[in-house]
Amino acid sequence: MKIEINDLNVVYRNGNHAVKNINLLIEEGMFGLLGPNGAGKSTLMKVLVALMKPSSGDVLINGESIRKNRKKLRSYLGYLPQDFRFFTRFRTWEFLDYAGSLAGIRNRKERINMVDELLDRVGLLEVRDRKANKLSGGMKRRLGIAQALIGNPRIIVVDEPTTGLDPDERIRFRNILSDLSQNDVTIILSTHIVGDISSTCQKMALLNRGEMIFSGSPSELTGAAEGHVFNLSLTQEQYDEIKDRLHIISSMPSEMGWDAQVVADESPGFDGKIIEPNLEHAYVYYMEHKTKGLSLKI
Ligand SMILES: Nc1ncnc2c1ncn2[C@@H]1O[C@H](COP(=O)(O)OP(=O)(O)OP(=O)(O)O)[C@@H](O)[C@H]1O
Ligand SMILES: [Mg+2]
Repeated sequence: MKIEINDLNVVYRNGNHAVKNINLLIEEGMFGLLGPNGAGKSTLMKVLVALMKPSSGDVLINGESIRKNRKKLRSYLGYLPQDFRFFTRFRTWEFLDYAGSLAGIRNRKERINMVDELLDRVGLLEVRDRKANKLSGGMKRRLGIAQALIGNPRIIVVDEPTTGLDPDERIRFRNILSDLSQNDVTIILSTHIVGDISSTCQKMALLNRGEMIFSGSPSELTGAAEGHVFNLSLTQEQYDEIKDRLHIISSMPSEMGWDAQVVADESPGFDGKIIEPNLEHAYVYYMEHKTKGLSLKI
């Protein structure tokens, strides 16, 4: 299903302009929404799942406005909120069973089958009888995604699902999402972890202070930083001198003093060698540029 975002603005009651004039087309597959804290990711997602009304502009899902058909559109949507919690008294399977009945699955037998099928899909079948609040952080997040999958939604919106997970759980979670995206569904994943995007998403957007400063593929973003990432071999004195002046992405002690990777508009001197940018470099470069008010062409 296609999602078309047109001139979207969200202004909170206190005057906070959280989403500014966003235009974006999201198609089937995995779409990554990347941005720092407070960029407006969660606000945008709440509008997409029709939990919040935009102040102006519109979102069309398969051509239909979310302003008009909220109830019907919600049946296409699965949503895992950033602050997802569940009632403590439930066992893992009971929680999903409850979520299923809320979603309108009346037939008990059908619901039980669905619960076990979903638990299996997210690797929680073995802990189905454990109290949901006794699950590990990663398991809770997987229960969260299972809950979002009830009713086979065509659009799945997950808000920062990997924050705080260990690498194994992060990979596991990402793989669940990638598997889902094989079935012609649209998955929108928000994160501030660059690695989540580079390893899963074909398309992405970069949000900063409510504005969309980039949309395209991860490789297009990386391309924008081409020629702007340098490796410098520095003495301790040189390192001390550039430390506050240049944007160092990483540094390691070396025989000479330091090996540092630096993102900059132009060569910073010191015989800097241009290196191939990765998405993290590109993210830093792009954010820096935009906050300095410079324009970038892609
Ligand atoms: N209920 C609210 N009332 C007023 N302002 C809000 C409200 N919720 C969020 N904001 C503000 O709107 C802006 C965007 O917030 P939002 O939560 O959408 O960002 P985010 O990208 O999801 O951040 P994070 O990565 O921290 O989750 C922020 O400046 C935030 O302080
Ligand atoms: Mg958020």
